[in-house]
Amino acid sequence: MADHGDANPENETSEAVAPKALQDSDLQYIQYEASKEEQYLPAIRQLISKDLSEPYSIYVYRYFLYQWGDLCYMALSPSNDLIGIIVCKLEPHRSGTYRGYIAMLATASPYRGRGIATQLVRQAIDAMTARDADEIVLETEVSNTASLKLYERLGFIRSKRLHRYYLNGNAAFRLILYLKEGTALKRPEHVEHGADMGAGGMQDMRRVDEAEMYA
Ligand SMILES: CC(C)(COP(=O)(O)OP(=O)(O)OC[C@H]1O[C@@H](n2cnc3c(N)ncnc32)[C@H](O)[C@@H]1OP(=O)(O)O)[C@@H](O)C(=O)NCCC(=O)NCCS
Repeated sequence: MADHGDANPENETSEAVAPKALQDSDLQYIQYEASKEEQYLPAIRQLISKDLSEPYSIYVYRYFLYQWGDLCYMALSPSNDLIGIIVCKLEPHRSGTYRGYIAMLATASPYRGRGIATQLVRQAIDAMTARDADEIVLETEVSNTASLKLYERLGFIRSKRLHRYYLNGNAAFRLILYLKEGTALKRPEHVEHGADMGAGGMQDMRRVDEAEMYA
């Protein structure tokens, strides 16, 4: 694998070519590896925290990247700036399914609308399918039109509206993509209608943060 040098998130000044003039073939999509932490983690945090209403601590990033780095994909510009990122996990869910979860997805603003996030989500779906996932879920703000459009175009459906899901009081939709026939029927009634804490979503990450901070 080529050495990509230091990764600067959305470092617009270092781009020799304006983002809109870039060809898709100029972009690189690579898988995260533990050996790349020093090179990419600061850029990953910066890119994701830019658009988040509730920034995550370093522990949250490490929680995902240490265990499921192979389900994290990055898009790089020709000058090796990090311009897109997807972070996921995959584990057995209490409903009995093997559940993938898309925890974070972001494209640097000058590069949006050219299919980068779609490509990253496709790579994550393929990787989780190859690892025998039954389904993939995520949450997104009900007002996030770009995100809803992107996921629904890829086959995700709205399974639930989560009232006041985010710390800022905003609601979320839980979206789900069934990868195997019959998965929807596996879900026991009490799980689907139960509390969302403990469901493995980003709301639970606040507890990862608290546990690490007070350890
Ligand atoms: C959501 C996000 C990741 C999309 O990244 P992207 O690389 O621009 O995505 P793509 O180009 O692959 O596709 C985006 C789709 O949304 C559409 N879209 C983009 N901006 C839009 C907007 N403001 N309103 C409506 N649709 C929009 C695009 O047209 C495209 O759909 P189409 O192919 O049917 O035209 C990006 O906007 C982002 O980083 N947002 C901030 C972080 C975020 O919200 N993450 C998702 C949280 S789960």
